[in-house]
Amino acid sequence: MSTATKTLLSGVKPTGRPHVGNYFGAMRQVVELQDEYASFVFLADYHALNFIQNADQMRAQSMGVAMDYLAIGLDPAKVVLFKQSDVSAHTELAWIFDTITTVPYLMRSHAYKDAEAKGHEVSVGTFNYPMLMAADILLYNPDVVPVGADQKQHVEYARDTADKFNRIFGDTFKLPEAIIREDVATVRGTDGRKMSKSYGNTIELFASRDEIANSVMSIVTDSSGDRPKNVYAIHRLLKSEEELEPLYGANTGNYKALKEVLIEDLEFLIAPLRVRREEIATDKASVMNILRAGAEKANERAEKKLKEVKEMIGVK
Ligand code: TYM
Repeated sequence: MSTATKTLLSGVKPTGRPHVGNYFGAMRQVVELQDEYASFVFLADYHALNFIQNADQMRAQSMGVAMDYLAIGLDPAKVVLFKQSDVSAHTELAWIFDTITTVPYLMRSHAYKDAEAKGHEVSVGTFNYPMLMAADILLYNPDVVPVGADQKQHVEYARDTADKFNRIFGDTFKLPEAIIREDVATVRGTDGRKMSKSYGNTIELFASRDEIANSVMSIVTDSSGDRPKNVYAIHRLLKSEEELEPLYGANTGNYKALKEVLIEDLEFLIAPLRVRREEIATDKASVMNILRAGAEKANERAEKKLKEVKEMIGVK
């Protein structure tokens, strides 16, 4: 673990293969900041339980996300990488937060409102999601939480909850800051909407060359301007405006040529990650050991905080 004095925390739900939006919006930030912050990164499997109710799939996808992080360069010697369900303090603190939180307050959550609007019968787990996420964050006293824009409200819930707890029981929690990088706050998918598994508009981070080509060829091109804005938006993740200007200038209206260059540029990013991912997948025992060691360190830190909380609320 790094000797840094400031702490970072981040997490991903193991609900499927990560996409380019997860990578640029959040996962890459963790790797870039791992020398600067004492970092805790976890696989949010209890959050994923709201979506995945199949044991084999849960196991495989949790291992998958651990391997994904390692493949993009997360160094387990610097970062505590662990599984949420291995640290019971998360669910225990979430309960404590539930008791100081009101139903109308949680009803304002975008995630809840979206699920309601789709006509879903919302599970209690989905409804309480912001409190579990507040617990995930606040247990580690982080200074920063790198996330995409869609998680902004959840980090605000964590800050509000920390503040409310501190007011009721006394100073216990630090208020964390979200790190949301403006240029990648909302990475667009192949149809121009936010890239999201639920919209089926993703480019997967460990896609094969053929999968990259299929995704890029499916990008919806709109001919209202002189450049296909959905192609350009994804291209901007990989290259600067100065680099893209001559290319898009020389290929006005030639969407196919632009898409072909984008395929090559994505392949340039993804190919080495894919190779690394395949190597890691040959040694699952090492990945399990990393998660086991991570759980031990995370538990040590989280239990200490939970003990402090229990003293503050008078159950210890
Ligand atoms: P999840 O698993 O949906 O997404 C993981 C991270 O990827 C970011 N992201 C994006 N960023 C930019 N553009 C996009 N199109 C895009 N799509 C996804 C998300 O903002 C997120 O940062 N609730 C969280 C997981 C979580 C968590 C936490 C995160 C649970 N507890 C505590 C941080 C701290 C989630 O569902 O992320």
